[in-house]
Amino acid sequence: MAKRVLFVCLGNICRSPTAHGVFLKRVADAGLQEHIEVDSAGTAAWHTGHPPDARSQAFAAQRGYDLSALRARQVCEQDFYTFNYILAMDYANLDALAQMQPADAPATVALLLSFAASHVEEVPDPYYGGDESFHCVLNLVEDASEGLLQALREKG
Ligand code: 4NP
Repeated sequence: MAKRVLFVCLGNICRSPTAHGVFLKRVADAGLQEHIEVDSAGTAAWHTGHPPDARSQAFAAQRGYDLSALRARQVCEQDFYTFNYILAMDYANLDALAQMQPADAPATVALLLSFAASHVEEVPDPYYGGDESFHCVLNLVEDASEGLLQALREKG
């Protein structure tokens, strides 16, 4: 059965859609689309239905990732039953997910960067930042995507 991965940030317009687009491309390049399904969501509902932030789209496109078809949505209780891995961009969102998770829902909830080679723990929110903060998100997400793909392959 396919493994399902949900990336989660606050607004679902900057960090988690970036992780969604980057990881989806890694999965497609590895020919694993039938085996790994990818989605993203936000713990907040402010941007529901919106495409990713124009800056996130532009910097991702420079590296060959197309985020244009993604639309923001809020995390819901069903996600904890649908997804095998729910991966938060930072501790605040990890805590929000831990509060929401139903006791009988089997999803593994963790920090995305627990799969990265770097020792950074959180993907910093770029929303009020400059260009560098969007590159930083991409660098961290690309790093974690390698480790995540490896981990999912090892689990079969
Ligand atoms: P994200 O960034 O959580 O990476 O999507 C943010 C997007 C919007 C806001 C905050 C963070 N906001 O305050 O609207």
